[in-house]
Amino acid sequence: MTKWNEELNTGNHEIDSHHKELFHLDSLLDNAVQSGQLKPVNDIIIFLEHYVIEHFQEEEDLMTQNDYKGYDHHKNEHEEFKIVVGQLRKRFDDNFPTAHVIFQTRRILDDLVRHIKRVDVGIRHLDTK
Ligand SMILES: [Fe+2]
Ligand SMILES: [Fe+2]
Repeated sequence: MTKWNEELNTGNHEIDSHHKELFHLDSLLDNAVQSGQLKPVNDIIIFLEHYVIEHFQEEEDLMTQNDYKGYDHHKNEHEEFKIVVGQLRKRFDDNFPTAHVIFQTRRILDDLVRHIKRVDVGIRHLDTK
């Protein structure tokens, strides 16, 4: 995963700080892999469960308040993430093999970073009204 850089700033402090936390999760996941423990993986999943609800809602509110033209596409990606995070939670709770859960978690993190780079940057400089 790439590191956080200034080009990823949207100018909205709260949104940017959530994005930075997401980048931080990648190293948490590395630690989890090394220690072989499941608790940090569960913590990451809990973070993601909040992220896909609260963080996404903040972005969507910002877009609707500004009549943002890319809303539908952006919203669709959010809905897909909600589905895959729900699947990840279910697999974790159903005791799927740790390697599988970690692999899926990594993939979601990578996809979320890609979403920040390609889609979230589009809401740069939208104002809270
Ligand atoms: Fe975002
Ligand atoms: Fe987004």
